[in-house]
Amino acid sequence: MKVNGKEYRTVWMQGSSVFMIEQNLLPFEFRIIECKNYLETCFAIKTMIVRGAGAIGAAAGFAMAQTFLHTPEKNKEDFLLKAKLEIENTRPTAQNLFYAVNRVYFAGLKSTIDAQHEAQQVADDDAYTSQKIGEYGNEIIKDGFRIETHCNAGWLAFVDFGTALSPVYYANCAGKNIFVYVDETRPRSQGARLTAWELQNENVPHVIIPDNAGAHLMSLGKIDMMIVGADRIAANGDVANKIGTLEKAIVAKEYGIPFYIAAPFSTFDLKCETGQNIPIEERSEEEVLYQTGPDAENIVRKILVSAPGSTAFNPAFDVTPAKFITGIITEKGIIDASKMVVEKINN
Ligand code: MRU
Repeated sequence: MKVNGKEYRTVWMQGSSVFMIEQNLLPFEFRIIECKNYLETCFAIKTMIVRGAGAIGAAAGFAMAQTFLHTPEKNKEDFLLKAKLEIENTRPTAQNLFYAVNRVYFAGLKSTIDAQHEAQQVADDDAYTSQKIGEYGNEIIKDGFRIETHCNAGWLAFVDFGTALSPVYYANCAGKNIFVYVDETRPRSQGARLTAWELQNENVPHVIIPDNAGAHLMSLGKIDMMIVGADRIAANGDVANKIGTLEKAIVAKEYGIPFYIAAPFSTFDLKCETGQNIPIEERSEEEVLYQTGPDAENIVRKILVSAPGSTAFNPAFDVTPAKFITGIITEKGIIDASKMVVEKINN
């Protein structure tokens, strides 16, 4: 996608370095950072400089390729396995991370060049599948639709295009008159900061809403459909996504509003029989207790927004049971979450 008229991917590799958009600084500053080795790339994933299922996957694949480029002669195998584990331990929920690391690791056992090619292929596949999701998703967006989305499953969360926002971009480009309600998505505000920034860049009409406004808007008949992304999809169609997704899905069902997940097959984890097996990341309480942003003088500050001395609990994801999901928009078409998941993937 374009930023200031220049085409960017969220994350890419050049030589032995991985480059990425520094997402913690958005929307206030657009900066590219360079990770010179896999440890720096791991740090970037952990601290959410790069975030979102597909972008994490691509970054992790590149990190794995970096380990092959820097393998010492002595204890090669131990080094690679230790590095693989370190990459896998950066963030536990997004399936794309494990998918990418495995693809690159096994390719790299043939040669370092194979590892580099495979990492690039993982990133290219991610951009391609996002594009296809946009095409299929566009088919179900009618002219005049008001769409609610949660968190950021746009191009910043993938290598390009995104998942939940890709159909929105296709519909907008097709000239459909659409409007997006953007859930703020506390505590890190990926909706208010990242999704809103993306939609501005693409000239998509939108408004940011507090996380707790969704049910009210749905009850007033102001939402025609909801599309969100996914971090991991279990074999029975249960979906882990950003915390707060579950309550939106329940309310949408109550009001008869179609609730769609948009995700590529690289997000499906058939080894997880149900959503209960999906590991849910718990992040630092600081993310809840403090907020960060520029003050009136444009100096970035971290401020306390909670009662001093109180602690916070910060689960980053929740699991939406398949029964609340109208369909999953994939790169091969729209599938029924509660019935078809395993069959479709195997075909
Ligand atoms: O914690 P994040 O920002 O990496 O969360 C992942 C997500 O972007 C969302 O859960 C998103 O809705 C899933 S699709 C990338």
